[in-house]
Amino acid sequence: MKKERILLLFGPMSKDSQILVSGVKPTGRPHIGNYLGAMRQFADLQTQYDSYVFIADLHALTTVQNGKELHQNIIGVALDYLAVGLDPEKVTLYKQSDVPQVAELAWIFNSITTMPYLMRAHAFKDAEAKNKEINVGVFDYPLLMAADILIQDADVVPVGLDQKQHIEIARDVAEKFNRIYGDTFKLPKPLILEAVQTVPGTDGQKMSKSYKNTIELFATDSEIKDAVMKIPTDSKGVDEAKDSEKDNVFALHKHFTLGAELEEVRDRYESGGIGYKESKDILIKNIVTFVTPLRERRNELEKNIDLVQDMITVGGKNAHAHAEEKMREVREKIGVQFKK
Ligand code: TRP
Repeated sequence: MKKERILLLFGPMSKDSQILVSGVKPTGRPHIGNYLGAMRQFADLQTQYDSYVFIADLHALTTVQNGKELHQNIIGVALDYLAVGLDPEKVTLYKQSDVPQVAELAWIFNSITTMPYLMRAHAFKDAEAKNKEINVGVFDYPLLMAADILIQDADVVPVGLDQKQHIEIARDVAEKFNRIYGDTFKLPKPLILEAVQTVPGTDGQKMSKSYKNTIELFATDSEIKDAVMKIPTDSKGVDEAKDSEKDNVFALHKHFTLGAELEEVRDRYESGGIGYKESKDILIKNIVTFVTPLRERRNELEKNIDLVQDMITVGGKNAHAHAEEKMREVREKIGVQFKK
């Protein structure tokens, strides 16, 4: 009865549509590289698949161990994804902790996975190489992720290249479970998102938080201005010819300055006649134009946090119901379910 009501809120999903599952860790503000590289595609994919997109708050616990901070990050990610166009009418948008069955399933996976197998995971090996104090959550991270994916019967999992091994682990675990208990889980495929665009940061390297070369996606005008003004350039004067391919400002123009204006800027670089100050001013104008509608949408949503929380809660109920169906089957197969 209750389940039917929840499903009705979203309308019936076509039986043929493939299931997409992906999670986003709530660990900080997104930058424009995140948006062009990955976030935008979530919004693009939501109509093609029966999509389950969640805020991976349980995964974040391995690194964010301050309740207030985690809480703010969760709300932050919800706002970010709604602002870039994820539509709760089309995707089931939820937080992982509203589907506690994933922790139950991860425990079952713990019991059929060996330590040496998990010790081969890149993330674990990297942490070990850095001599970090590794918590059990970091070690077990891939199995919680496998549970996220397999519990919703995912066909595809859109992720960055860095997560590819985690999808392989999910497939291995699914195969192992199926071998022991009989056919239960689908084998999900990764949908690698890296090819789209790698956006350079303010120093010409790939834009990344760890290089401190980012421009935030929801930055204010003055934050955008400060970030662009700090881009290092060579010392050529206004009239000198410049190699557009070797300039960090121009590298960003390629992503934000469109069509004829981009060609014009390129010509003026090659023939001389544009200084780096003017080039930066044009870039600032174009990044502001690009960011403004996203920022405005986020600000609007932020005025109504209760509504945002309600949307995530409804998504959680839907995801919970879908996961529970799978778990009933799993509990029966492993032998803990009393038959009515
Ligand atoms: N590990 C992913 C990341 O760091 C986040 C994540 C958790 C995830 N569970 C997932 C991604 C399930 C895809 C599917 O980006």
